[in-house]
Amino acid sequence: MKELIKQAFEARKNSYSPYSGFQVGAALEGKSGKVYTGCNVENAAYGPSNCAERTAIFKAVSEGEREFKRIAIVGGHEGESVAPTPCGVCRQVMAEFCEPSFEVIMATSEDEYEVMTLGELLPKSFDL
Ligand code: THU
Repeated sequence: MKELIKQAFEARKNSYSPYSGFQVGAALEGKSGKVYTGCNVENAAYGPSNCAERTAIFKAVSEGEREFKRIAIVGGHEGESVAPTPCGVCRQVMAEFCEPSFEVIMATSEDEYEVMTLGELLPKSFDL
């Protein structure tokens, strides 16, 4: 758990967030054991911005991994650490690839975090 959160903090350093000033990092653990990190990447047109969680998921899927164990998320404005809860779009993207038991770790430090399952964060998610 600590190691995954540490990797999320490392990814946060690459956050490109000149518009919101809110820096987010994520570390996604695949069932293979491989970890994929991501940060938020914003855009002047706002809409094309991508959250840290989706960056990590899309990196993983584009590298051939589609099954995941858990994700650690950290964030905050410069110099602060809050535990970001994933946005609705990211929850839906998680639901595409992850089981309801998938763990979402929302951390403020390596020792302080809340864990919720995807099933708790997005009950009755849409599926075809
Ligand atoms: N953001 C994330 O990357 N993940 C979250 O869980 C919450 C929000 C990003 C989107 C945007 O770049 C900034 O944080 C402020 O909303």
